Amino acid sequence: MKILVSDPLAPEALERLKAAQGVAVDVKTEMTPEELVGAIGEYDAIVVRSATKVTGDVVAAGKNLKVIGRAGIGLDNIDVKAAEKAGIKVVNTPAASSISVAELALAHMFALSRQIPKGTAGLKAGKWEKKALKGVELYNKTLGIIGTGRIGRELAKRAAALGMTVLGYDPYITQADLGDVQVKLVPLDELLEKSDFISLHLPKTEETTHLLGQREFAKMKKGVRIINCARGGTIDENALYDAIVGDQVAGAALDVFETEPPGEHKLMGLDQVIGTPHIGAATIEGQYRVGIEVVDRVLEGLGVQRA
Ligand code: MLT
Repeated sequence: MKILVSDPLAPEALERLKAAQGVAVDVKTEMTPEELVGAIGEYDAIVVRSATKVTGDVVAAGKNLKVIGRAGIGLDNIDVKAAEKAGIKVVNTPAASSISVAELALAHMFALSRQIPKGTAGLKAGKWEKKALKGVELYNKTLGIIGTGRIGRELAKRAAALGMTVLGYDPYITQADLGDVQVKLVPLDELLEKSDFISLHLPKTEETTHLLGQREFAKMKKGVRIINCARGGTIDENALYDAIVGDQVAGAALDVFETEPPGEHKLMGLDQVIGTPHIGAATIEGQYRVGIEVVDRVLEGLGVQRA
């Protein structure tokens, strides 16, 4: 079986893949879309993270392709419908990076509430901006989590431990599903009205595109802080910009953008906005788990024995 790894994988995962019986692995990262279409025909499986786009053209050219492995959660870089139609299995790692993403969301909540990036930038510029950096505590505040799947729940546990009240909105999950995780499920509008911090943890689908827009920002508590470590496009960026400039939203922390990389984005020009370049799953531990899991799933999909 020939397997193409087209984005970087954790070294331990690559070793595990190479050690499997009857498998030949090629690692070719940073291929152009044309190069990928040209090469894919000889492979039985491809393993990608988020950089490689497995488009309909790639699927069509993948005459021997049996499995597409996504080392991560979101499948938005894969034409899943085309793959399914062609009888190609698509496997991902839905749980492996949950803690990493939840921790980044929490880090952004702290960074926003205490303006840590601004303090750092000031110090590096030789300034001592103590008066301008009065923050707020997370303790006793309400966190609204939109999407209470694996990541949302990990964040909820950590927020509850900090003394926050946690509300959740998720049309696909019941209170019983949440077990003893301290989240109270409420309708979206109630979450918007009551939350001091709102963190998104949901995929981008037709249903969730611009889930937070002008109407939703208007409903929110004045001074709310928004965190998005999920997917760009779930927030209407123009509406968010207006809500910050209009003082309705006190700040936003964005790890994801409608277009990535966002270039010189007007939101990043605002003092109240902090950001990271889509690094939710980018931890040593997260990438180790993601890599091992995707390798196991790809080998399983190919019916190949692990070493
Ligand atoms: C994921 O979907 O697993 C994360 O957003 C990480 C990524 O795509 O890089």
